[in-house]
Amino acid sequence: MTSPAEPIDSSTVLLNDGRRIPQLGFGTYLIPPNETTEAVEFAIAAGYRHVDTASYYRNEAGVGQAVRASGIDRDKLWITSKLPIGASTADEVHRAIDKTVAELGSYIDLYLIHWPMPSRGNYPAVWRALQKAQSDGRVGSIGVSNFHQRQLHRILDNEGVRPAVNQIEVHPYLPNTTLAQYCVDLNIAVEAWSPLGAGSVLHDVGILALAEEAGRTVAQVVLRWHIQRGHIVLPKASSPERIQQNASVYDFTLTTEQMSRLDRLDRGESGRTGPNPESM
Ligand code: A2P
Repeated sequence: MTSPAEPIDSSTVLLNDGRRIPQLGFGTYLIPPNETTEAVEFAIAAGYRHVDTASYYRNEAGVGQAVRASGIDRDKLWITSKLPIGASTADEVHRAIDKTVAELGSYIDLYLIHWPMPSRGNYPAVWRALQKAQSDGRVGSIGVSNFHQRQLHRILDNEGVRPAVNQIEVHPYLPNTTLAQYCVDLNIAVEAWSPLGAGSVLHDVGILALAEEAGRTVAQVVLRWHIQRGHIVLPKASSPERIQQNASVYDFTLTTEQMSRLDRLDRGESGRTGPNPESM
């Protein structure tokens, strides 16, 4: 195990607001609140310097506790959290930030609108409230999650601050290439949630063969595919072995041919493991 003083030799991604985010983050969705501190402490000790949480996950306090226990200076870590789903007024945004800061016991590096909820249609107002929170110094970077082109377009039309990131479902069964390229063209960094397809890609025979060829595990090969696509990647794992394994993805490279084989696993809409943001 890497000592807490040594971050994994990972790269960072430059955001459109000039800040740098570690490309590999530890995802905490579905880690139960009472297991979060231990898992995040282990992840930080294994070298992760970026943790992704959300109000919806109910584990922000556990993340905060792990950060304090880690012995790592807070400014060497990056913590992302997300607005409660359905928050729709400036006042709700204000109170949600207060709550997350209290739970984490420290500031928020990146704060996201969790889901656009397009049927409600009030995400532009929420986005304006986030811009205000940022200009008041209450959060660092701001971004969105689960936004499709139509919703991104709508907030960009408001001529405000451009989201620093769009966190979307991306994995070999749902590469989301068109949306991801749309974001890249707008200088909005792509963050991949469920990068292992919530586990769905781990038994793919094609990836198993590729993993054998590369002398790596399936999870490592898939995470490496994300990294070479230039995305920020947020794998979730529970056991120390898996947390450690998922961090060891910067010491090998997939060939162009191997990348193409992974690209060809696209199953379109049927590859999706989470809700479709258009109908959520
Ligand atoms: P667990 O949490 O029990 O360790 P995603 O990040 O795409 O949502 O995928 C998370 C799923 O993948 C979880 O079920 C997690 O299991 C599993 N997982 C994460 N890392 C590994 C790994 N290295 N090997 C096998 N399964 C993994």
